[in-house]
Amino acid sequence: MRLKELEGYLQQVDVFENPKVDLEQYPTTPHIAAHMLYTIDNTFGDIEGKLVGDLGCGCGVLSIGSCLLGSAMTFGFDVDSDALEIASKNCVEFELQTCELIQCDVQEFSPCDRWSKAFDTIIMNPPFGTKNNKGIDLNFLQKAISMTRTAVYSLHKTATREYIKKKASEWGVNMEVLAELRFNLAASYKFHRKKTVDIEVDFIRIDCSGC
Ligand SMILES: C[S@@+](CC[C@H](N)C(=O)[O-])C[C@H]1O[C@@H](n2cnc3c(N)ncnc32)[C@H](O)[C@@H]1O
Repeated sequence: MRLKELEGYLQQVDVFENPKVDLEQYPTTPHIAAHMLYTIDNTFGDIEGKLVGDLGCGCGVLSIGSCLLGSAMTFGFDVDSDALEIASKNCVEFELQTCELIQCDVQEFSPCDRWSKAFDTIIMNPPFGTKNNKGIDLNFLQKAISMTRTAVYSLHKTATREYIKKKASEWGVNMEVLAELRFNLAASYKFHRKKTVDIEVDFIRIDCSGC
């Protein structure tokens, strides 16, 4: 599938109706989601035919894109039942047979549960750890690393790059910045005064093949 075609499909994915601030619910735009997934598949061969996990899947844009690019199976995990209900309707609309949605708190995963090293690839746009969630971004990363046999692809605030690099090296994995993006948050929350808020974000890859 071509990049433009993928982006066109992802524009049809419904997003959060009433986004929850405490869960940092803002969707990945179809443009960014398509570029991320296309790179993961085309440059690294980490989607087609692979078992993919999407942590904090929200309404499912990354999971759906992963299925459209031919993952063997994609599992989306989110703590919020309202988001998962929208994700589930999206999967029905796309007539996907290869997407499973699971309600759970990703932070509760333990290293020896059934998801440990269960996936080829983890994709995610986790909470950035702003507001009352300090540290959740790193916690998601640590869980993601424990769940994959190959690589984690994730979005993080550029401001946290050096800290994440340091943590990755402490964890014995290598972190690479694949692209610097401007994440354009629509004024989805009432406390945003401006119409849109631009945040500088890194699209990163963590190689877990050696751990
Ligand atoms: C930035 S949104 C990204 C949503 C979706 N992945 C996307 O790309 O559009 C972060 C998501 O993480 C979910 N989330 C927040 N805390 C969580 C937790 N502890 N466990 C699982 N999901 C969580 C939120 O409900 C939200 O859907």
